[in-house]
Amino acid sequence: MSKNIAVLAGDGIGPEIIEQAIRVIKFIDPTLILNEAPIGGAAFDLLGHPLPESTLELAKKSDAVLFGAVGDWKYDNLPRHLRPEQAILGLRKSLKLFANLRPAVLYPGLLNASTLKKEIVSGLNLLIVRELTGDVYFGMPRGVRKVIDGEFIDDLEGFDTMRYAESEVRRIAKIAFEISRSRNKKLCSIDKANVLETSQFWRNIIIDVSKNYPDVELSHMYIDNAAMQLVKNPLQFDVIVTGNLFGDILSDEASMLTGSIGMLPSASLNANKQGLYEPSHGSAPDIAGKNIANPLATILSAAMLLRYSLNREKDALKIENAVQQVLNDGLRTSDIYEEGYYKVGTKEMGDAILKKLSNK
Ligand code: IPM
Ligand code: MG
Repeated sequence: MSKNIAVLAGDGIGPEIIEQAIRVIKFIDPTLILNEAPIGGAAFDLLGHPLPESTLELAKKSDAVLFGAVGDWKYDNLPRHLRPEQAILGLRKSLKLFANLRPAVLYPGLLNASTLKKEIVSGLNLLIVRELTGDVYFGMPRGVRKVIDGEFIDDLEGFDTMRYAESEVRRIAKIAFEISRSRNKKLCSIDKANVLETSQFWRNIIIDVSKNYPDVELSHMYIDNAAMQLVKNPLQFDVIVTGNLFGDILSDEASMLTGSIGMLPSASLNANKQGLYEPSHGSAPDIAGKNIANPLATILSAAMLLRYSLNREKDALKIENAVQQVLNDGLRTSDIYEEGYYKVGTKEMGDAILKKLSNK
């Protein structure tokens, strides 16, 4: 039976980068069924909500979701529950997409894009496995309330709840260990166990799960040290597993190591391998509609979609090779452009990828 993909382009550069990824997917397999639906600010404008019921229903019944980007300054003053970001948080929670895979790969040929010295980053290929549906992001209670005792009595306080259930940690640990096994068999778990109860609990469970993976070398690091180690010696890492909040921060840091966030895809998976695939970068409203955005992160997200949700490793590799080849040919969108290369627009980059795919 044909597979269904929900295509949610969203705001800013979302539509134009998604357009290129769609061309690639259709080329790979014209029988895949692609259904587009509004999301984010665009959906708010159209239907009054960043994640309309109809979009959520479509996403739920699809085998995978290809997501562009959401957000624009013009929605900054909306109440929190109507802001574009709620669309992605709502999808993660509703589809139970607890495992977020965020690779940070430095492509040979883009060495100069990094702000770090070549010898520090050359060969970087790490993967952050971020837990995505728990932690302080979703913990209850949260809100603003009156303080009832202590130094700040009668004052107002804002509060959130950091929490992890044992099974939540076990399932993300299992994914991280499995992936480590398929890579360099090195896993680093990042927490703040010297201060936080949640983190000590997290660490204990990770250690327990590690007993099933004696072939994977497990280490632990505190988040503050990890933030430092990532810029000091990023090559020490292969797979990192961490909670939602720390993963949010570290994955931005890791993507910057490559200097080309426009190149980085991501996958968010649930227990049934249903997944949401999106570029790691945002909606960049300042450059929207100008045909200058880099579509490669979205195209590489489509490759991850084929790999993880549709079980089509060969097609995923085909796309990844095509990306590598156009880079080798010297094509660059403006975010990764340097002198001596060929500057191309969003659509032209898409054309080049299609050309590589059809040569084979
Ligand atoms: C990300 C983003 C989101 C997050 C925002 C947009 C809610 O920063 O995907 O990393 O914090 O998870
Ligand atoms: Mg983030």
